[in-house]
Amino acid sequence: MAREYPKLKLDKSLAMFEEAKRLSPGGVMGIRRPYNFVEGEYPIFLTHGYGGHIVDVDGNDYIDMLCAYGPIILGYNEPEINEVVKARIDKGFCFSLVQPVQNEFEQRIIDMVPCAEMVIPVKTGSDATSLAVRIARGYTDKSVILRCGYHGWHDWCVEVHGGVPEETLALTDEFEYGDIASLEEKLDAHKGKVACVIITPVGHPLAKPVQAPPPGYLEAVKELTHKHGAVLIFDEIRTGFRASLGGAQERYGVTPDLATFGKAVANGYPISLVAGKKEIMSICEKKVFVSSTFFPNSIEMVAALKCTEILKREDVPNKIWERGTKFLAELEKIVNDLKAPVRVSGIPPMPFLTFEQAPGDPDKTYKLRREYFYTQTIRRGLFIQPFHHWYIAYRHTDEDLTRALTAIRESMELMLEKYPAKQ
Ligand SMILES: Cc1ncc(COP(=O)(O)O)c(C=O)c1O
Repeated sequence: MAREYPKLKLDKSLAMFEEAKRLSPGGVMGIRRPYNFVEGEYPIFLTHGYGGHIVDVDGNDYIDMLCAYGPIILGYNEPEINEVVKARIDKGFCFSLVQPVQNEFEQRIIDMVPCAEMVIPVKTGSDATSLAVRIARGYTDKSVILRCGYHGWHDWCVEVHGGVPEETLALTDEFEYGDIASLEEKLDAHKGKVACVIITPVGHPLAKPVQAPPPGYLEAVKELTHKHGAVLIFDEIRTGFRASLGGAQERYGVTPDLATFGKAVANGYPISLVAGKKEIMSICEKKVFVSSTFFPNSIEMVAALKCTEILKREDVPNKIWERGTKFLAELEKIVNDLKAPVRVSGIPPMPFLTFEQAPGDPDKTYKLRREYFYTQTIRRGLFIQPFHHWYIAYRHTDEDLTRALTAIRESMELMLEKYPAKQ
C-alpha cells in the first residue's frame, strides 16, 4: 500500500528565493516561478545535473523529466559535448567575424530538415519565431500573423499584454489547434492581409493537453495557407530533433515554407535557427535586417554539431520515441487500473497527464487532486510539472523510467484515497 512521503528539506532553496526577490522582480522570471509548480514543495535553485537527474541546493536528487523545458535531449553534463566546447574555449569563440563552423552547422541542418534550403542561426526560440514572421512579412508585404501555440515572449505573440502596444497586438490573431474551420474563419476575416500562419505542428497551447496532429490536419493547414497567399511556418522549437531528426515535418510528412528550431539542437547551449525555402529566406539579402552581437558565437555551434552528430549516430529520436511509446502505454495502464479521472496525452517524446474539470464538479476537485498528485511525485524524487508536458531524454535509464512510473502510480493511488473519483 502506498504511503504519504514527508515534505522535502528545501531550506536553502527557500532562503535563496527570499534573497532573489530582493534582487530581481519576482525573484525568478516566468515559468520558473514557484507558483508554476506546487509552492513550498518544489526546489527553486539547482546546483548540477548528470544523466537524466538534477540536484538542488539542499542536496535532493531528482529524476528530471522537464529537461530544462526542452533543451536537454541527451542528458546533463554530456562528456562528448563538454569536450568540444572546452576545446573551442581554448581558441576563443566570440570574434568580429564569423567562423568556419557556421558553414558546417548550416549544412548539417540543411541535410537533416526537409524544409531547409537555407538557414539563419540565432540564439533563442523567441529570436527564431520573431525572425521567421518578419521574413514572412517582408516576403509577402502583408502584416497579419495567424498563430496557434506558444511562440515566445516578444511583442507580436506574448500572452501577457502589459507593456505591449495595442497596435502590435491587433496584427496577430489566434486560431484553434486541430480545427481547420477555425483557421479558415481567421483567414477569411483577414482576407488579403495575412503574411503567415505560424503553428506548433504538435498542439500544445499552454492550458491544453499535448496533441498529435489529427490525420490530414497539417496537410489542410498548408493547402489553406497557400490558397490565401500566406507563408506557412512550423514552430518546431519543441518538436525539433525530438519528433524525429528532421522534426515533426519529417515524422508527419508535411513540409512547411519556413520552420524554427531551438531547444534540443545543442543539448542546452543557446542556439536556435530559422530554416526554409531559398526563395523566401533570400528576402534577408534584400530588405529584411537581422543581426546581433552574439549570433555568430561558436561555442553553441560546436555543441550543436556534436549534439546532432550523436542524435544521428545513435538514432536517438527513434529510440526516445520507442521508449516514450512504452511510457505512454504504462501511464494509460495506471490511469485505467485506478479509474483515475485523468487523461493521458502527448506524443511519445513529450508525455503528459491532464487533470480536467469533470462536469458536475463545481468544487474544482481536479485542482486539489492535481496539487496533491504533484506534491507526492516531487517528494518521491520525480521532477515533473503540473502545467507543462514532460520530456524523455536519451540518458533516462530504464530504471529512471520505471521509478518514475512507480512514483506516478503510488501518488495517484494516494490522491484517489484522499479525493475519491465519483464512479
Ligand atoms: C514552441 C515554442 N516556440 C517558441 C518558444 C520560445 O523560445 P525561448 O523561450 O527560447 O525564447 C518556446 C519556448 O518554450 C516554445 O515552446
